[in-house]
Amino acid sequence: MDLAGKKILLGLSGGIACYKAAELTRALIKAGASVQVVMTDAATHFITPVTMQALSGHPVHTDQWDARIANNMAHIDLTRSIDAIVIAPCSADFMFKLAHGVCDDLLSTLCLARPAGTPLLIAPAMNVEMWQNPATRRNAALLQQDGVALLGPGSGDQACGETGPGRMREPAQLLEAVIASFQPKLLAGKRLLLTAGPTFEAIDPVRGITNLSSGKMGYALARAAQQAGAEVTLVSGPTALAVPDHVRCIPVQTALQMHAAVMAHVAGQDVFIAVAAVADWRVANASATKLKKNDAGDAPQLQFIANPDILAEVAALPQRPYCVGFAAESDHLEQNGAAKRLKKNVPLLVGNIGPDTFGQDNNALVLFDEHGYLSLPPADKHTLARKLIAEIARRLH
Ligand code: C5P
Repeated sequence: MDLAGKKILLGLSGGIACYKAAELTRALIKAGASVQVVMTDAATHFITPVTMQALSGHPVHTDQWDARIANNMAHIDLTRSIDAIVIAPCSADFMFKLAHGVCDDLLSTLCLARPAGTPLLIAPAMNVEMWQNPATRRNAALLQQDGVALLGPGSGDQACGETGPGRMREPAQLLEAVIASFQPKLLAGKRLLLTAGPTFEAIDPVRGITNLSSGKMGYALARAAQQAGAEVTLVSGPTALAVPDHVRCIPVQTALQMHAAVMAHVAGQDVFIAVAAVADWRVANASATKLKKNDAGDAPQLQFIANPDILAEVAALPQRPYCVGFAAESDHLEQNGAAKRLKKNVPLLVGNIGPDTFGQDNNALVLFDEHGYLSLPPADKHTLARKLIAEIARRLH
């Protein structure tokens, strides 16, 4: 779980986006975090502490003078063993208070009293004019100078009926940002290109040849690399997956399109990871019109032509990025993986244990490099992706 063992203090200030804080609480807990909710008086007008207590599993604090805290120092006690404070929603007024060190209620006081080094993440939520007002711009700049992470805001329709920047980002996006904030920035300043998913080779306008790759491992790697601080470009065959936040995705269908997209973006990349299950052949005599059954019932005669090997081509570039290949092997992985690494001429080749991993959430990997091999035991693909990114970062530096 991405937030296993993390203690998050979730603060709510006043705004209609408080209703999204309920879902955020559930999402944080589902990701493994424990959540202590603190609300301003204004927030309690939008959602009740009862709701937030039921969802977080802990009594909610709203009052600086709460006699439930033995020493009556809630602002100290609540902040001494937490991993981060997340304010969602963060109103324009609350941004002002944080920027200027105002502490006139429990939530603002505990933010000021948090130990140095405790991250403060805020999800601004306000009307578009309020967000664009120079006063709010000044406060946002001050907060950024102080190292406060601004998560958003998003842009779009607002509850007030107006449109533009200012709406709180969605709970799923906030969850991703919180998870990302805990990841070591092992690839800061690096550019990483990767391929993922299957390819689709047309037989005619409605039929084609593809494979069972879901794209999950490649997308998990794109996410892990982005969260490790890399600028990520993902060239993806057809998948049903959501593109990870802040990842540039170039969707393609065929191996030729994937090849063209990779070659167009490979210059200046530090790392290239070929995760895609690329079709080895395409149909040479694909029909421009839908093939019809003929009266004799003859099957069409398909002819195949080899697709370019994208990984091998990138690995042969004079100024090549650090290249990582993937191999799905059902047997003799140790010999086959080492041999494939040499054949593909890459410093690192990653073997999946068996083709059964296609479409699954779990995988197990074996990393082959010039020193031998290293096994990463079975785990979910996100965990494995983080480990693999750490291994790549170690070899890069
Ligand atoms: O030779 P094989 O297809 O098993 O090699 C798999 C590796 O090569 C994967 O990293 C895959 O993404 C890459 N590959 C490629 N272009 C192809 C075929 C495979 O980049 N046409």
